[in-house]
Amino acid sequence: MGNNVIVLDHPLIQHKLTLLRDKSTGSKEFRELLDEIAMLMAYEVTRDLPLKEVEIETPVGKARSRVISGKKLAVIAILRAGLGMTDGILRLVPAAKVGHIGLYRDPDTLRPVDYYCKLPGDIQERDVILVDPMLATGGSADEAIKLLEQKGARSIKLMCLIASREGIEYINHQHPDVPIYTAAIDEKLNEHGYIVPGLGDAGDRLFGTK
Ligand code: PRP
Ligand code: URA
Repeated sequence: MGNNVIVLDHPLIQHKLTLLRDKSTGSKEFRELLDEIAMLMAYEVTRDLPLKEVEIETPVGKARSRVISGKKLAVIAILRAGLGMTDGILRLVPAAKVGHIGLYRDPDTLRPVDYYCKLPGDIQERDVILVDPMLATGGSADEAIKLLEQKGARSIKLMCLIASREGIEYINHQHPDVPIYTAAIDEKLNEHGYIVPGLGDAGDRLFGTK
């Protein structure tokens, strides 16, 4: 296994992920769970944000205390399923700018097809959290990272929910400088490129399409 992967195994994340995987979980609950998990994961993904000291006054006296030093963040969602992760992250880092990369997987070739890209204009100055719940073959994340790099993004973290071993190895090989944060690593892909056991089609479950 490549070594640039961090598994977030907090009990709350694991509990909610189990509910999310369950096929009897409907779209409303799926959306809520994905949102909550994304927020919990963002807590870990932002752990290395730099702090600076400021002076404030409490009701009792002066204090030197620490605040985030103003590092700029961008949350970039891979459409569609990444949309389900942005709000949870923004609740923790409301000043982050949001971008969207539209990709879908060709069902025959499993290769990503681009259809949309709108990024913050100052993406070169921002640390990027790229979000998509599923890392299967890794083709979509690879394409999104290349697009971000073409637009000048320098520091990218990939945040997913379930990653296959194959997807992790592919991204680690293509982009060794991009750490992957995931809640679970699943064993394999089936003949249609779906993660097994996974959770099925994340976009369809999120939006109730099929
Ligand atoms: C899913 C998922 C990822 C991609 C992962 O999107 O949300 O973007 O597949 O597969 P990969 O690692 O093999 O590229 P999908 O193509 O189903 O599009 P959708 O979210 O619009 O349904
Ligand atoms: N995309 C999904 O939504 N689920 C998978 O298991 C693989 C790709």
